[in-house]
Amino acid sequence: MANISYIDGVYCNIQNAKIHINDRGYHFGDAVYEVIFYNSGVFYDYEGHINRLFNSLKLINIKFHLSKQQLKIIIKNLFKLNRVNFGSIYIQVSRGIADRNHSYFKLNSKPILTMIVSQKKNNIDDDIKGVKAITVFDNRWSRPDIKTTQLLPNVLAKTYANQNHAYEGIFIDHEGYVTEGSSSNIWIINNNNEILTREIDGKILSGITRKTIAQFAKNNNFKMLEKKFTKDEMLESKEVFLTSASSFVTPIIEIDNIKISNGIIGKTSIELRNLYFKKF
Ligand code: PDD
Repeated sequence: MANISYIDGVYCNIQNAKIHINDRGYHFGDAVYEVIFYNSGVFYDYEGHINRLFNSLKLINIKFHLSKQQLKIIIKNLFKLNRVNFGSIYIQVSRGIADRNHSYFKLNSKPILTMIVSQKKNNIDDDIKGVKAITVFDNRWSRPDIKTTQLLPNVLAKTYANQNHAYEGIFIDHEGYVTEGSSSNIWIINNNNEILTREIDGKILSGITRKTIAQFAKNNNFKMLEKKFTKDEMLESKEVFLTSASSFVTPIIEIDNIKISNGIIGKTSIELRNLYFKKF
């Protein structure tokens, strides 16, 4: 079990890792985050995640005091202290501590870095099971491309999915197009054998796993297009899968109680999943 977390310069037992009541992340969701997967000494897509973290910080004007190198030392220390072989790290940077005031104009708060390591059961070699999903209206703010901790619509969507025995909630925009999952990117393989995932158009998070899988698809001569698709196209497609740092490539076999390809996991999803694990 991973007991040691990191909070603002201190490695400490998770029981003692407390956030200040005036942390702006707590008050306003004024914070950004990353989740990185780790397996036996290897971080999956490490550079991509760290670069996106620094980009998120820049996009919401948080002046972070640590370099990428300093951050890496802390992350490695944390895995050593926790003796975790297979799991993930959650990294969050908030704007810092200040009396509650919406504006951060002329605020000189120091960003607060926190990290939590989680141990997971290694299920890479298990037979992969497909999951169910449910569609929900995408009612998020207009900057879902920034990975902030302000995730209430995603929390509600995932909970609604779980309440309905589904693993993921898939957001549908006001024109009927799929945007992404509550915590994943969504892909389909249509009846022309084209692999589609929505383009980076500001309406989705630019997933790091998405980028890696897109590269695999191109390198392996699949017909791969970054192009949005509708909910109906998704329901009629041959395969649907999701990607994320914590779910890797996971086939979706049923959406809104409609089975995709009779509920049988598609071979391309499996192939891409295997390629992903082979890379690390
Ligand atoms: N979520 N879209 C959303 C809304 C996400 O929250 C995530 C990841 C992704 C996939 O991004 P990536 O491949 O870089 O993990 C897409 C993480 C895992 C989370 O919130 O726990």
